[in-house]
Amino acid sequence: MNTAVLDQLRLDGFAVAAGAIIEPLLSDLRAEAIRLVRRFTDDGYRSDDYWFFNAAGAGQPVLYRIHNLESQGSALISGLYADGPLHSLAADILGAPVRSTACAMIVKVPGLAAAVPWHRDRTSVPPHSVCNLSVFLDDSVPENGCLEFVPGSHLLPDDADVTRACERGPIQPVPAQAGDVLVHDVRMVHGSRRNTSATYRRSIVVEFAPVGLALTSEDG
Ligand code: NI
Repeated sequence: MNTAVLDQLRLDGFAVAAGAIIEPLLSDLRAEAIRLVRRFTDDGYRSDDYWFFNAAGAGQPVLYRIHNLESQGSALISGLYADGPLHSLAADILGAPVRSTACAMIVKVPGLAAAVPWHRDRTSVPPHSVCNLSVFLDDSVPENGCLEFVPGSHLLPDDADVTRACERGPIQPVPAQAGDVLVHDVRMVHGSRRNTSATYRRSIVVEFAPVGLALTSEDG
Protein backbone atom coordinates (compact mmCIF):
# COMPACT_ATOMS: atom_id res chain seq x y z
CA MET A 1 0.00 0.00 0.00
CA ASN A 2 1.32 3.41 -0.84
CA THR A 3 1.72 6.13 1.75
CA ALA A 4 -1.08 8.31 0.34
CA VAL A 5 -3.59 5.49 0.83
CA LEU A 6 -2.39 4.83 4.39
CA ASP A 7 -2.51 8.55 5.18
CA GLN A 8 -6.08 8.85 3.88
CA LEU A 9 -7.12 5.80 5.87
CA ARG A 10 -5.74 7.31 9.05
CA LEU A 11 -7.28 10.74 8.46
CA ASP A 12 -10.64 9.88 6.83
CA GLY A 13 -11.10 6.29 8.05
CA PHE A 14 -11.41 4.81 4.55
CA ALA A 15 -9.33 4.43 1.38
CA VAL A 16 -9.34 2.49 -1.88
CA ALA A 17 -6.51 0.11 -2.77
CA ALA A 18 -7.00 0.25 -6.54
CA GLY A 19 -6.71 -3.02 -8.44
CA ALA A 20 -5.57 -4.99 -5.39
CA ILE A 21 -7.30 -8.18 -6.57
CA ILE A 22 -6.10 -9.23 -9.99
CA GLU A 23 -7.02 -11.83 -12.58
CA PRO A 24 -7.59 -14.72 -12.62
CA LEU A 25 -8.63 -14.50 -8.93
CA LEU A 26 -11.18 -11.74 -9.58
CA SER A 27 -13.04 -13.74 -12.25
CA ASP A 28 -12.86 -16.90 -10.16
CA LEU A 29 -14.36 -15.09 -7.14
CA ARG A 30 -17.12 -13.66 -9.33
CA ALA A 31 -17.94 -17.16 -10.61
CA GLU A 32 -18.19 -18.40 -7.03
CA ALA A 33 -20.43 -15.45 -6.11
CA ILE A 34 -22.77 -16.30 -8.99
CA ARG A 35 -22.84 -19.97 -7.94
CA LEU A 36 -23.65 -19.15 -4.30
CA VAL A 37 -26.37 -16.65 -5.21
CA ARG A 38 -27.95 -19.16 -7.63
CA ARG A 39 -28.31 -21.66 -4.79
CA PHE A 40 -30.76 -19.14 -3.32
CA THR A 41 -32.45 -17.81 -6.47
CA ASP A 42 -32.58 -21.00 -8.57
CA ASP A 43 -32.35 -23.93 -6.15
CA GLY A 44 -34.46 -22.51 -3.31
CA TYR A 45 -31.68 -22.99 -0.78
CA ARG A 46 -32.34 -21.25 2.57
CA SER A 47 -30.29 -20.96 5.76
CA ASP A 48 -29.76 -18.53 8.62
CA ASP A 49 -26.70 -17.26 6.73
CA TYR A 50 -28.68 -16.20 3.67
CA TRP A 51 -30.31 -12.88 4.60
CA PHE A 52 -33.20 -11.66 2.46
CA PHE A 53 -36.28 -9.48 2.50
CA ASN A 54 -39.59 -9.59 0.65
CA ALA A 55 -40.27 -6.62 -1.61
CA ALA A 56 -43.68 -5.71 -2.98
CA GLY A 57 -43.87 -6.72 -6.63
CA ALA A 58 -40.50 -8.49 -6.59
CA GLY A 59 -41.99 -11.95 -7.16
CA GLN A 60 -39.35 -13.70 -5.10
CA PRO A 61 -37.35 -12.88 -1.95
CA VAL A 62 -34.49 -10.42 -2.42
CA LEU A 63 -31.14 -11.71 -1.15
CA TYR A 64 -28.89 -9.02 0.34
CA ARG A 65 -26.22 -10.74 2.40
CA ILE A 66 -24.56 -14.14 2.72
CA HIS A 67 -23.19 -14.33 6.22
CA ASN A 68 -20.35 -16.65 7.32
CA LEU A 69 -19.32 -16.71 3.68
CA GLU A 70 -16.17 -18.72 4.43
CA SER A 71 -18.38 -21.68 5.46
CA GLN A 72 -20.67 -21.90 2.41
CA GLY A 73 -18.83 -24.64 0.55
CA SER A 74 -16.53 -22.56 -1.64
CA ALA A 75 -12.93 -23.71 -1.33
CA LEU A 76 -11.78 -20.55 -3.09
CA ILE A 77 -13.52 -18.25 -0.61
CA SER A 78 -12.47 -20.36 2.39
CA GLY A 79 -8.90 -20.05 1.10
CA LEU A 80 -9.18 -16.29 0.69
CA TYR A 81 -10.45 -16.08 4.28
CA ALA A 82 -7.65 -18.30 5.60
CA ASP A 83 -4.70 -16.57 3.95
CA GLY A 84 -3.69 -14.61 0.88
CA PRO A 85 -3.64 -11.12 -0.62
CA LEU A 86 -6.17 -9.61 1.78
CA HIS A 87 -4.10 -10.73 4.78
CA SER A 88 -0.99 -9.04 3.34
CA LEU A 89 -2.95 -5.87 2.71
CA ALA A 90 -4.47 -5.88 6.21
CA ALA A 91 -1.09 -6.53 7.85
CA ASP A 92 0.35 -3.52 5.98
CA ILE A 93 -2.59 -1.37 7.07
CA LEU A 94 -2.67 -2.38 10.73
CA GLY A 95 1.12 -2.69 11.03
CA ALA A 96 0.84 -5.97 12.92
CA PRO A 97 0.22 -9.67 12.32
CA VAL A 98 -3.50 -10.04 11.58
CA ARG A 99 -6.27 -12.60 11.68
CA SER A 100 -9.48 -12.61 9.67
CA THR A 101 -12.49 -12.41 11.98
CA ALA A 102 -15.62 -12.28 9.77
CA CYS A 103 -16.59 -12.76 6.14
CA ALA A 104 -19.74 -11.95 4.17
CA MET A 105 -20.93 -11.26 0.66
CA ILE A 106 -22.99 -8.15 0.09
CA VAL A 107 -25.41 -8.50 -2.81
CA LYS A 108 -27.24 -5.48 -4.18
CA VAL A 109 -29.76 -6.80 -6.66
CA PRO A 110 -30.50 -4.53 -9.66
CA GLY A 111 -33.60 -2.42 -9.17
CA LEU A 112 -34.54 -4.11 -5.89
CA ALA A 113 -31.78 -3.77 -3.29
CA ALA A 114 -32.81 -1.59 -0.37
CA ALA A 115 -30.73 1.10 1.28
CA VAL A 116 -28.47 0.01 4.13
CA PRO A 117 -29.16 2.40 7.04
CA TRP A 118 -26.32 4.44 8.51
CA HIS A 119 -24.40 2.44 11.09
CA ARG A 120 -20.99 1.66 12.59
CA ASP A 121 -19.76 -1.94 12.37
CA ARG A 122 -18.09 -1.85 15.81
CA THR A 123 -17.36 0.81 18.40
CA SER A 124 -15.88 -1.43 21.11
CA VAL A 125 -12.37 -1.21 19.60
CA PRO A 126 -10.01 1.78 19.31
CA PRO A 127 -9.66 3.68 16.01
CA HIS A 128 -7.09 2.25 13.56
CA SER A 129 -7.20 -1.20 15.15
CA VAL A 130 -9.82 -3.24 13.21
CA CYS A 131 -10.77 -2.82 9.58
CA ASN A 132 -13.08 -4.21 6.93
CA LEU A 133 -11.76 -4.96 3.46
CA SER A 134 -14.41 -4.96 0.70
CA VAL A 135 -13.40 -6.71 -2.51
CA PHE A 136 -15.61 -5.40 -5.30
CA LEU A 137 -16.68 -7.97 -7.87
CA ASP A 138 -18.53 -5.32 -9.90
CA ASP A 139 -17.99 -1.64 -10.47
CA SER A 140 -19.62 0.15 -7.56
CA VAL A 141 -21.16 3.54 -8.32
CA PRO A 142 -23.80 5.79 -6.71
CA GLU A 143 -26.52 4.36 -9.02
CA ASN A 144 -26.04 0.79 -7.76
CA GLY A 145 -25.59 1.76 -4.13
CA CYS A 146 -21.88 2.30 -3.53
CA LEU A 147 -20.70 2.72 0.07
CA GLU A 148 -21.01 6.20 1.58
CA PHE A 149 -19.03 7.48 4.55
CA VAL A 150 -18.84 10.39 6.95
CA PRO A 151 -15.08 11.10 6.68
CA GLY A 152 -13.29 11.13 10.04
CA SER A 153 -16.18 9.47 11.88
CA HIS A 154 -13.92 6.64 13.11
CA LEU A 155 -12.60 9.21 15.59
CA LEU A 156 -16.04 10.00 17.08
CA PRO A 157 -16.76 8.77 20.62
CA ASP A 158 -18.10 5.22 21.00
CA ASP A 159 -21.57 6.52 21.90
CA ALA A 160 -21.79 9.24 19.21
CA ASP A 161 -25.23 9.69 17.67
CA VAL A 162 -25.02 8.21 14.16
CA THR A 163 -27.99 10.20 12.82
CA ARG A 164 -26.53 13.48 14.04
CA ALA A 165 -23.13 12.62 12.56
CA CYS A 166 -24.82 12.16 9.16
CA GLU A 167 -26.77 15.40 9.49
CA ARG A 168 -23.54 17.24 10.25
CA GLY A 169 -21.84 15.49 7.31
CA PRO A 170 -20.20 15.73 4.94
CA ILE A 171 -21.35 12.50 3.32
CA GLN A 172 -18.98 11.07 0.77
CA PRO A 173 -20.01 8.38 -1.74
CA VAL A 174 -16.99 6.20 -2.56
CA PRO A 175 -17.16 4.54 -5.99
CA ALA A 176 -14.83 1.63 -6.71
CA GLN A 177 -14.01 -0.55 -9.69
CA ALA A 178 -14.17 -4.33 -9.87
CA GLY A 179 -10.93 -5.60 -8.32
CA ASP A 180 -10.50 -2.61 -6.03
CA VAL A 181 -10.39 -3.19 -2.29
CA LEU A 182 -12.11 -0.54 -0.20
CA VAL A 183 -10.71 -0.46 3.32
CA HIS A 184 -12.63 1.10 6.18
CA ASP A 185 -12.14 1.39 9.90
CA VAL A 186 -14.95 -0.57 11.59
CA ARG A 187 -15.79 2.54 13.64
CA MET A 188 -16.79 4.51 10.51
CA VAL A 189 -20.31 5.84 10.08
CA HIS A 190 -21.39 4.38 6.75
CA GLY A 191 -24.34 3.16 4.71
CA SER A 192 -25.48 2.78 1.12
CA ARG A 193 -28.47 3.68 -1.04
CA ARG A 194 -30.86 1.57 -3.06
CA ASN A 195 -29.67 -0.04 -6.25
CA THR A 196 -31.69 1.86 -8.86
CA SER A 197 -29.55 0.60 -11.75
CA ALA A 198 -29.69 -2.47 -13.98
CA THR A 199 -26.39 -3.85 -12.69
CA TYR A 200 -25.44 -6.01 -9.71
CA ARG A 201 -23.21 -4.59 -6.99
CA ARG A 202 -21.52 -7.51 -5.22
CA SER A 203 -18.65 -7.41 -2.76
CA ILE A 204 -16.89 -9.82 -0.45
CA VAL A 205 -16.12 -8.23 2.91
CA VAL A 206 -13.51 -9.61 5.28
CA GLU A 207 -12.87 -8.14 8.72
CA PHE A 208 -9.32 -8.12 10.09
CA ALA A 209 -8.01 -7.60 13.62
CA PRO A 210 -4.53 -7.80 15.13
CA VAL A 211 -3.74 -11.34 16.27
CA GLY A 212 -3.72 -10.39 19.96
CA LEU A 213 -6.94 -8.35 20.05
CA ALA A 214 -10.05 -10.17 21.30
CA LEU A 215 -13.33 -9.11 19.69
CA THR A 216 -16.78 -9.34 21.21
CA SER A 217 -19.57 -10.82 19.13
CA GLU A 218 -22.15 -8.27 20.29
CA ASP A 219 -21.52 -5.95 17.38
CA GLY A 220 -20.06 -6.18 13.88
NI1 NI B 1 -21.19 -1.96 7.73
